[in-house]
Amino acid sequence: MTPYLSREDIGVAVARLAEQLDLDYRRRPPVLVGILKGGFIFLADLVRQMKTPIQGIEFLQVASYGPGTVSSGRPRMVRGIPDGAIQGREVIVVEDIVDTGTTTAFISRYLERRRPASLEVCALLDKPARRQCQLGVKYVGFTVPDRFLVGYGLDLAQRYRELPEIYTLEEGAGPG
Ligand code: IMP
Ligand code: MG
Repeated sequence: MTPYLSREDIGVAVARLAEQLDLDYRRRPPVLVGILKGGFIFLADLVRQMKTPIQGIEFLQVASYGPGTVSSGRPRMVRGIPDGAIQGREVIVVEDIVDTGTTTAFISRYLERRRPASLEVCALLDKPARRQCQLGVKYVGFTVPDRFLVGYGLDLAQRYRELPEIYTLEEGAGPG
């Protein structure tokens, strides 16, 4: 594995995103919806950097990957949110990475049906080279190339999520 983003890089980006969100949501405290499992560390760091009071934190779990580095392309809801949890609320979806965008589009459809007042996506990482869905990711930490990344919540077959830094897999180990 090769180091790609250090703790400091990530910390600076999380602080910048928190500041942006504080500015945009200061008059309308949001509900954050963390996407499990990959988004758990990012969400935890982000809420602790934000100064805006948070109205609620919900979690959604979506499965899109099998055991490897290639998405199945067919997201499946593993765990939803309670009825009424986001109705009329200002919602921010907090994700580790937007890759093809299939998962994010699926999540947005699921959440829109629950009638939030607004819905935006905040992703630590954005891999636009692989995008297959049209979607707007308003808050992005880093735009990254088409390489498979692990650490800081991101896994390969459930491993490496606990690493405080982000790494690329060695050449040949991943798809890009
Ligand atoms: P998408 O539906 O193709 O956008 O994939 C989104 C999901 O795939 C993310 O929430 C991650 O769980 C996973 N994923 C995509 N790219 C990577 C990567 O580089 N490393 C680890 N997981 C990834
Ligand atoms: Mg994953």
